[in-house]
Amino acid sequence: MNLILLGPPGAGKGTQAKRLEDIYGIVQLSTGDMLRAEVGSGSDLGKQAKGIMESGGLVPDDLIINMISGRIDQDDCKNGFILDGFPRTVPQADALGAMLSDKGLKIDYVIAIEADSDAVVTRITGRYTCSSCGAGYHDEFQKPEQDGVCDKCGSTDFTRRADDNAETVRNRLAAYEEQTAPIIAYYGEKGTLKTVDGMADIDVVTAKLKELIG
Ligand code: AP5
Repeated sequence: MNLILLGPPGAGKGTQAKRLEDIYGIVQLSTGDMLRAEVGSGSDLGKQAKGIMESGGLVPDDLIINMISGRIDQDDCKNGFILDGFPRTVPQADALGAMLSDKGLKIDYVIAIEADSDAVVTRITGRYTCSSCGAGYHDEFQKPEQDGVCDKCGSTDFTRRADDNAETVRNRLAAYEEQTAPIIAYYGEKGTLKTVDGMADIDVVTAKLKELIG
């Protein structure tokens, strides 16, 4: 099963993708995580992406499309994948359709997680991640059971993203409205789009996604 999770920054795409990975045994493909790994490794792609990501803009389509195409070919995607943060422009959506058709694959579900702009700013500025296993947390909404200790792996080392500050979040939201929101109508016209209320509690959103996917 292959699916796309759409939604503005902070809607809960990454949070829910990680849960769906565990439930369905399919892999999360986050273009944001891939780009952050490229930035961390100092690759050519990372060097091109770094400043754009820090400003909250979008990395050029051709770079993203090549990156995701190579990733889908890897063995761990054979059971299926969850696209998180891709496609993000209409040209990316067109390229995805052509790419999957060439590979003999298709998307089974496109699900948009809807969330209010004010709420996502609070969510993003309070977000942090386990440096060891990548589990996601929030200062207010998703605390580890034991303060300062990762529930999943026991690590006490956490990080915050460089682009999770209020100013960059506003730019990311503007990029979403201008360049990504049109994709909702794009998939709506194809008849493949479903929506979920991302303002509900995290467990409620997961339950709704399971209901839609079956
Ligand atoms: P990316 O990493 O994709 O960031 P994003 O789209 O801005 O999305 P986020 O990761 O911020 O949000 P999310 O929906 O995953 O929220 P999360 O689940 O963590 O992209 C970063 C940058 O990379 C872009 O700006 C761009 O420059 C570049 N890029 C990436 N892909 C690209 C592409 N395809 N083309 C071009 N450029 C690209 O949740 C947020 C917080 O809220 C968490 O702390 C969580 O605990 C909490 N939370 C989640 N759900 C709930 C809930 N229901 N109730 C309460 N709290 C909740």
